[in-house]
Parts: sequence; C-alpha cells; structure tokens
Amino acid sequence: MALSTLPSGAALGAEIVIDLSNDIDAATFQEIEDAFHDNIVVVFRNQHLSSERQIAFSRRFGKLEIHIVKKYLLPDDPEILLVSNIRNEMGENIGLADAGFTWHSDVSYRKHPSRCSLLYAIEVPEQNGETLGNTIFVNTIQAYQTLPRTMQTWLAGRKAIHRYSERMRVENSPRPKLTAAQLAETPDIAHPIVRTHPFTGRKSLYVTKGECIGIEGVPDDEARPIIEELHDHCIKPEFQYRHKWQVNDLLMWDNATAMHLAICDYQLPQRRLMHRTTVIGSQPF
Ligand code: SIN
Repeated sequence: MALSTLPSGAALGAEIVIDLSNDIDAATFQEIEDAFHDNIVVVFRNQHLSSERQIAFSRRFGKLEIHIVKKYLLPDDPEILLVSNIRNEMGENIGLADAGFTWHSDVSYRKHPSRCSLLYAIEVPEQNGETLGNTIFVNTIQAYQTLPRTMQTWLAGRKAIHRYSERMRVENSPRPKLTAAQLAETPDIAHPIVRTHPFTGRKSLYVTKGECIGIEGVPDDEARPIIEELHDHCIKPEFQYRHKWQVNDLLMWDNATAMHLAICDYQLPQRRLMHRTTVIGSQPF
C-alpha cells in the first residue's frame, strides 16, 4: 500500500504518515527511503517510540555513530545522544545544550560523515502557544543548481577542508572541551565541495563557514571569501524549510543534501529534550 506523503510546500520537507511502532516490511521501508531521498527532511508525527525502537528504525539506514562527546549518551543505549538545555539537580546539563547552533551538516569532520540523523522530540519549549526551538534546513541540491555556471565549473573537483574544533560554539558553551585523544581522532579532512548523492546521484553543495577552514590548493585569503559566498548562497530563504516541533515528532534529514541550524530562542524553565541517532554514511565523492 502506498504511503501517504505530504510535502511541506517549501524547498524541502514532507510528512510521512505511518506508525513506526509497527513492524515495517521491506517494501514499505523502500517507500520510506525513496520519500526520504526525494524530500531530504521527513517528519513522522505522533510517534511513541522506545529508545530500542528508535535505534532499530535508525539502523535500517546504516550503522550508528556513537557521538564523540560521550558525556551525553544514554547510558544503556549509547547510540542515543541527548540534545537538551535541561539541567540535573547538580546544575549540570543532561545533554548537548548547543547542538546545531551554527549551520552545519552532521559529522562532516569524519572521513565517513553521517548519512542521516534522526531526532525524536520528547520535550518542546513554547511560549504563548508558539513553538520555540525550531530547526531550519536548507536544500543544498537547489543551492548547487542555482549557482552561476562559472562557479559550478570552478568548483568541480575542488575540496574544502573540514575541521571539527573549528565549529563555532555559543559563548560559554557547557560542552566539554575535546581531549587531546579526541582531537587526534578528528584530524582535518577534505571533502568535495560539490558532492554526489550515493543513492540518487544528485549533486549538492557541501560547505559551511562554521566548519570549513579552507579549500585545498587555494590560498586562504582567496578561499575564505569563496566559502562565505557559498555558505550565504546555501542559506537563502528560498532553499529553507523551518520545522516547528511537536512532542513525539521523529524527524530525519539527509546530511548529504541538507544543512541545518537549531534556533535557540528559549531558556529554562522552557525545556527542550531530543533523542538523536546518527547514521554513518559513505565517504563523499
Ligand atoms: C543537531 O544539530 O543535531 C540538533 C538539531 C536540533 O536540536 O534541532
């Protein structure tokens, strides 16, 4: 039976209507995967998922990453990373409080960056009936397609250098500093600026100014303005979809064809709690 898929009307994003607590056969999973590739960001509303269920569904897309910041992993299910502004009785953050506060694509600092991420909304802040803590996504296929031909030609075959520690953080970020071992585990890595989707063959831009420190073979004073120009082009409003969270949303996004930004317009006692699973992808080409 065909799945019901409701496009958001924006440059990306759709709702898929299905109850993920039921078993999903191979044909239905194929429909979900196709709708996911076509829409880049998909939401499954009103899901009631245990951690095991979220992990099992996520694993259908590939092997799961255990996040480098170990402090915020669920102790019994380390495949789940807590993203949250909530503090425990000792006043410590229970999860990553500044995840996604700059534009990025998940885990671009690895040789094998994330294929996709899944975020399950447990608590969502709101004020006067308005949802806070939205997440904005951009369609980087459209961003690539709308570049001037001369720029597309110049970019062909070029690689940007991604640096994990270069990521911009919020001021006074509570996130633990990377240890020497973690820094050694995440050396600079060059990825194609124009990448080809491993499943669909579609080309997209893969570069952000928060993560990319240069372009291989290009002097830094030339490379930085190009990275900024590409970044600013990617995040134009016409390429965006803004997700307004509801409790029990499971949202997933394609890290090869989208960048995202989490909006921090809430503070305690407004609470936000998300469970993230991150699927490892293939080496970008
Ligand atoms: C993330 O970048 O993984 C977090 C996104 C969000 O919390 O909305």
